[in-house]
Amino acid sequence: ADEPLVLGIETSCDETGVGVVRGHTLLADALASSVEQHARFGGVVPEVASRAHLEAIVPTMDRALAEAGVTLADVDAIAVTSGPGLAGALLVGVAAAKGYAVAAEKPVYGVNHLAAHVAVDTLEHGPLPEPAIALLVSGGHSSLLLIDDLAHGVTPLGATIDDAAGEAFDKVARLLGLPFPGGPYIDREARAGDPAAIAFPRGLTAAKDLAAHRYDFSFSGLKTAVARWVESRQRAGETIPVADVAASFQEAVCDVLVGKAVDACRSSGVQTLVIGGGVAANSRLRAMAEQRAAKYDIRVRTPRPTLCTDNGAMVAALGSHLVAAGVAPSRLDLPADSAMPL
Ligand code: KG4
Ligand code: ZN
Repeated sequence: ADEPLVLGIETSCDETGVGVVRGHTLLADALASSVEQHARFGGVVPEVASRAHLEAIVPTMDRALAEAGVTLADVDAIAVTSGPGLAGALLVGVAAAKGYAVAAEKPVYGVNHLAAHVAVDTLEHGPLPEPAIALLVSGGHSSLLLIDDLAHGVTPLGATIDDAAGEAFDKVARLLGLPFPGGPYIDREARAGDPAAIAFPRGLTAAKDLAAHRYDFSFSGLKTAVARWVESRQRAGETIPVADVAASFQEAVCDVLVGKAVDACRSSGVQTLVIGGGVAANSRLRAMAEQRAAKYDIRVRTPRPTLCTDNGAMVAALGSHLVAAGVAPSRLDLPADSAMPL
């Protein structure tokens, strides 16, 4: 095949991921997670994550190559997440990518983790029509982006002004006594609950907020509202209807995310909405987006749930896109940039 064979390395948070793609075809997606090591702390501990990446990077690399049935010599380029993320965690992946690149004489591409969450969709649905609107919702970020050209530039339309959507899921899960990371547990609990049971606030959707924050999000008020609701019931000695709280909270988050994403599509005349990041795995978010977008002939593209959360394939997908677009590789002194903008 003429399409480039690209390897992608992801170590920005708690997942060590190595993916291999040819063009838009996924060949391997090896993952090692340190999530259990962080669970008792209720959040990712940077030092623990870095150490776990160091232990996992070489075996995960070997697994990915074996799974794809290729050797490093076959690879045309190595892509690596160079930011944003935890500095020490990023460094492990960036250093490994440079080492492999030098050893095998391959070009290395430092890529943006957030753009990779969008690019991964191409592995499932083929080239992304441009322009597109991207709703990027993860544990660390919640943004609406106008994708004019994924290889060269995306335009941020708005972002969270406080907590990320995934962070809100994780904090509310904790309040409800669910394990970390809580997003998938809320998703599961909510299926048995009533989304209209409790009217939780929809941040930055009031007319007065829309003027300055049309495409921004705020989830800390929602989190506080859930905490107050739960604590007042606990004080009264009542049992907490976990499924109803989960469903009502999830409904509030999805309502705002989908409402603003559809608004962004309509006002910019864009017919493609791509949803990426860990929270894009949420079943209610996916269903609601499909439903509301259909009314305006907007096509929703969402990668399968396992590709929504952090992985190496997404980095390989973006790398492959950059190679195909003729973008020059990074220099070998490529830094890890924990606060890398889009
Ligand atoms: O993209 P990701 O794997 O890592 C970051 O880049 O942050 O996102 C992780 C976040 C966590 O907050 C997790 O709770 C959330 O994605 N998440 C979900 C679901 N699956 C993962 N949130 C809601 N529903 C889900 N099904
Ligand atoms: Zn991520």
